[in-house]
Amino acid sequence: METAAKPESAHEEHGISLASTAEVGERQFLRFKRLNRILHIVMIVSFMSLALTGMTLKFAYTGWASFLSRLFGGYESAGYVHRLAAVAMIGIFIAHIVDVVRMKKRLYPSWRSLLLGPDSMLFNKKDLQDLIGNFKWFLGRGPRPEYGRWTYWEKFDYFAVFWGMAIIGSTGLMLWFPELFTMVFPGWFLNVATIIHSDEALLAVGFIFTVHFFNTHLRPEKFPMDIVVFTGRMPVDDLKDDKPLEYNMLVKEGMLEENLVEAYPPIVIRAIRLFGWTALCIGFSIVVWIIYAMLFAYQ
Ligand code: HEM
Repeated sequence: METAAKPESAHEEHGISLASTAEVGERQFLRFKRLNRILHIVMIVSFMSLALTGMTLKFAYTGWASFLSRLFGGYESAGYVHRLAAVAMIGIFIAHIVDVVRMKKRLYPSWRSLLLGPDSMLFNKKDLQDLIGNFKWFLGRGPRPEYGRWTYWEKFDYFAVFWGMAIIGSTGLMLWFPELFTMVFPGWFLNVATIIHSDEALLAVGFIFTVHFFNTHLRPEKFPMDIVVFTGRMPVDDLKDDKPLEYNMLVKEGMLEENLVEAYPPIVIRAIRLFGWTALCIGFSIVVWIIYAMLFAYQ
């Protein structure tokens, strides 16, 4: 059985991730199950499509917007792509909620134990302590906090999407079905919905392609890319380094072994990296376009 360990390698001592260097046949810790990996990939594809088509409308007065709209087959078909991607995004949102309800029925005696347990996505006192501890660590005034299953910034990223989905999704549906909504709400709601949808979309794009990208890929331990959300797997050494509380709990409860799986073959990893790099490049390009449009072409 594995035991909690001190840093064993030069990599670990220097805080460098081994995430990308899986040996063939190596057994790794399964952090994300298949459904969550699929949901995240569909989320990336739908979010990128929504961002590209949405920003094409928002900044329609810029040259790159007409270039992009031609790629989508014109502004009208960009609107269709936007609605199709929206259906995919609403679909994964519902699938996630259904999965949480089923997980509760299968693994937890009550909602309280799911929401307040150690694997919960909800913020708790320890997150505040970790946040303070992390700033002290940045300043060289203390050790790196011992994180559990979810760090405070991972929880923040999760709720940013959750909140964004509610706001962007509901206002988007108002824009899509105006006759239906104005049977209940006054017409000026649509004007407000357009502003909220448009500006919240800008915030979401700005957040995901800078803060979320930094948190997940650009931190020194993960640079240039962390593919755990695609493979679902991470080396056990990384788990010890990154999430020592979770590692120690799994070891104590004798559950580490049953969560170990074979690493993917190199060809699969290469395909995943290609997908990841494509998403990163599109995301960063959209940020550059937005900054350009806001600074030099805003109308
Ligand atoms: C998930 C549900 C969503 C639905 C149902 C939805 C629906 C819509 C609809 C119907 C429009 C008007 C399009 C047209 O006139 O052809 C629109 C515009 C827009 N959407 Fe979405 N959308 C969603 C998500 C998103 C997301 C995630 C983003 C960005 C990441 C986004 C960004 C935009 C932008 C920037 C506009 C243009 C607003 C403007 O004219 O200023 N949308 N959306």
